[in-house]
Amino acid sequence: MAIERTFSIIKPDATRRNLTGKINAIFEEAGLRIVAQKRIWMSRQQAKTFYAVHASRPFFHELVDYMCSGPVVVQVLEGENAVARNRELMGATDPAKAAEGTIRKLYGESIQANSVHGSDSPETAAAEIAYFFAGSEIVG
Ligand code: PPS
Repeated sequence: MAIERTFSIIKPDATRRNLTGKINAIFEEAGLRIVAQKRIWMSRQQAKTFYAVHASRPFFHELVDYMCSGPVVVQVLEGENAVARNRELMGATDPAKAAEGTIRKLYGESIQANSVHGSDSPETAAAEIAYFFAGSEIVG
């Protein structure tokens, strides 16, 4: 299995509750290596561009407002099958439907405040990583 990279965001509900370390421990214990990480406060424009694929959905503006409501931690995770592995660790979008032991089941508050974002494919991961990180900021 090839080593792959995925993009992750620890969302405002999780940074507010000081859960960054607990979530990072889940990634690391699962064999994902955090090869880049920074804490930022997203601008509205950054969030709108990042979530542009959802622009026509009814929750778009609420989602953008939410992602700008506090600090987030943007990350690059590296490991075997990292995109799929991270999605398994996160669980379903809606914490109420997420499997036991997943990050969203453990920590998610709602379908919006669901603690983490993770790329849905290797192609999306490459674009999302490039949106937030310069190559020199990623140290494998
Ligand atoms: S869904 O439920 O199938 O649409 O889920 P998904 O396509 O993965 O969701 C994409 C992101 O939109 C957020 N989301 C919402 N925000 C606010 N209100 C509602 N109703 C809502 N539904 C989905 C969800 O948290 C996803 O965020 P990311 O950052 O991509 O995980």
